[in-house]
Amino acid sequence: MSGTEQKSEAASSQAPICVRDATAGDEARWRVLWAGYTAFYETDVPADVTAHTWARILDPASPISCRLAEREGRVAGFAVSVLHPGTWGHGPRCYLEDLFVDPKVRGGGVGRALIQDLITRGRAEGWIELYWQTKASNTVARRLYDSFTPADEFVRYCVQLA
Ligand SMILES: CC(C)(COP(=O)(O)OP(=O)(O)OC[C@H]1O[C@@H](n2cnc3c(N)ncnc32)[C@H](O)[C@@H]1OP(=O)(O)O)[C@@H](O)C(=O)NCCC(=O)NCCS
Repeated sequence: MSGTEQKSEAASSQAPICVRDATAGDEARWRVLWAGYTAFYETDVPADVTAHTWARILDPASPISCRLAEREGRVAGFAVSVLHPGTWGHGPRCYLEDLFVDPKVRGGGVGRALIQDLITRGRAEGWIELYWQTKASNTVARRLYDSFTPADEFVRYCVQLA
């Protein structure tokens, strides 16, 4: 992933949001937000898996990347995505796997800025599509998502293997 930065103004009069790649110095803050994210999903991600995820985020050879949104110098949210090849086009597809915004700053455009950042970067880098999924009942997130594109008709099948 490139180290590009994108500044976007929230709809409100709040300070601008800066979206950038995660770096090693972000680990402590990312872990706090990650803990909030896994708590939101009422799941316990084992410590070694979290460590592995963070290591892959920092590894430029990994297809996993993490963009952080900063407002007034404080990291307010993250988007973790996986870039992978696809069979229906020449360019890669991007799966937005994890999106989370600090509850204290929700509703201020941070989530929107994180998604818009991936769209902008994907267009510039020739990705075929950006896609993600959420629970049908996640109405807050879906209000944001519906403003980018309508949900499609696909349903998800997931066989747990481990
Ligand atoms: C979903 C989430 C990432 C949105 O982040 P956010 O920074 O609050 O989103 P934004 O401020 O960019 O919201 C944009 C839109 O979403 C809607 N929205 C967001 N929060 C809302 C709230 N609390 N009440 C009503 N609408 C809300 C609004 O329609 C808003 O539209 P607007 O920009 O026209 O006002 C955040 O709520 C979150 O982290 N939730 C918990 C984790 C989660 O659900 N992750 C996604 C899993 S797939």
